Amino acid sequence: MAILTSCEDTGGSLSVQEFGNVDGKQVGLYHIEFPGKLKASLTNYGGIVTHLKVPDRSGEMADIVLGYDNLKGYLTETPYFGALIGRYGNRIANGKFVLNGVEYELAKNNGLNHLHGGLKGFDKVVWAVVDTVVTKDKVSITLKYVSPGGEEGYPGTLTTSVTYTFTENELQIDYEATTDKTTIVNLTQHTYFNLSGDLDGDILDHELMLKAGRFLPVDSTLIPTGELRSVAGTPFDFTSPKTIGKEIATQNQQLEYGLGYDHSWILNEGLSLDDIAATLYHEESGRLMEVFTQEPAIQFYSGNFLDGTITGKSGKVYQHRYGLCLETQHYPDSPNQPDFPSVVLEPGDKYETKTVYRFSVR
Ligand code: GLA
Repeated sequence: MAILTSCEDTGGSLSVQEFGNVDGKQVGLYHIEFPGKLKASLTNYGGIVTHLKVPDRSGEMADIVLGYDNLKGYLTETPYFGALIGRYGNRIANGKFVLNGVEYELAKNNGLNHLHGGLKGFDKVVWAVVDTVVTKDKVSITLKYVSPGGEEGYPGTLTTSVTYTFTENELQIDYEATTDKTTIVNLTQHTYFNLSGDLDGDILDHELMLKAGRFLPVDSTLIPTGELRSVAGTPFDFTSPKTIGKEIATQNQQLEYGLGYDHSWILNEGLSLDDIAATLYHEESGRLMEVFTQEPAIQFYSGNFLDGTITGKSGKVYQHRYGLCLETQHYPDSPNQPDFPSVVLEPGDKYETKTVYRFSVR
């Protein structure tokens, strides 16, 4: 394995090894390390974060994300483990939308709906590594993908770059995109977290806080009904920290539709990157994750479709709810919901958004 570059004294280092071949292109596995503080790996196939190790209360480092040991796993079957999602994170009803009077038809890969960019979304393409930066305080890798007009049915050539920046206690994601024709875009990241470390059980004992007074109820195909519903007095109230398991089994039509939590929480107005949007805490290990974002919503998915059929890293079996996602994004199905914040990108404009996951212990 070639050490690309590393920084003297206690700073970060970056190295890369071959990970395999996809679509005739070489794919690398990039290793980032801040000794004793944070250790991560990611591949430019799908922009997938494959490993993320952070310390527990006693300083013990362990992996807190789900994924595979090798590329083959990701190529064979993956519920978007660790991946970048585009062009549109989440669902678009019936895979259709109208933009400037023209109807566009997208791939239908989730029943009748379009999900996470289609049959071959940004999670399944090889991204070019266009820049790497290593300083004492941070290690960044910039990935670029040019999605040709018409890909998966979307209009316009979308030029996307995503910069992953690691510090000794953060994973920062900067998304950028431009287009040559009016289009829609809603990028996100689909890491499955389990703060117990090395997957010591399900995520029902994790305490979640979401700074969101409202969520989007969905129909049985997980398309928002258009209503913004108050979380007050419902199992969807995470305004104060509560274990995910506490009310997940409550009789509730929305929980039935989602098979658990799989909904979009509308972040309270006025939050900026300086404000905590969400926290996730695992008491036993002491690991705490804080989420900061410029996006208006978070899709909290409690790993309901994990069912023990996937064996991931180090032979660990991914049982029901062994991981959860906190996907920062715009609202699902926005192109068909005029009252939702716009996801339209015009030529000459720049889509720019940032999300930060910060790790510490309590
Ligand atoms: C998203 C969706 C879920 C599910 C997962 C992948 O988070 O909201 O319904 O499709 O991706 O399994």
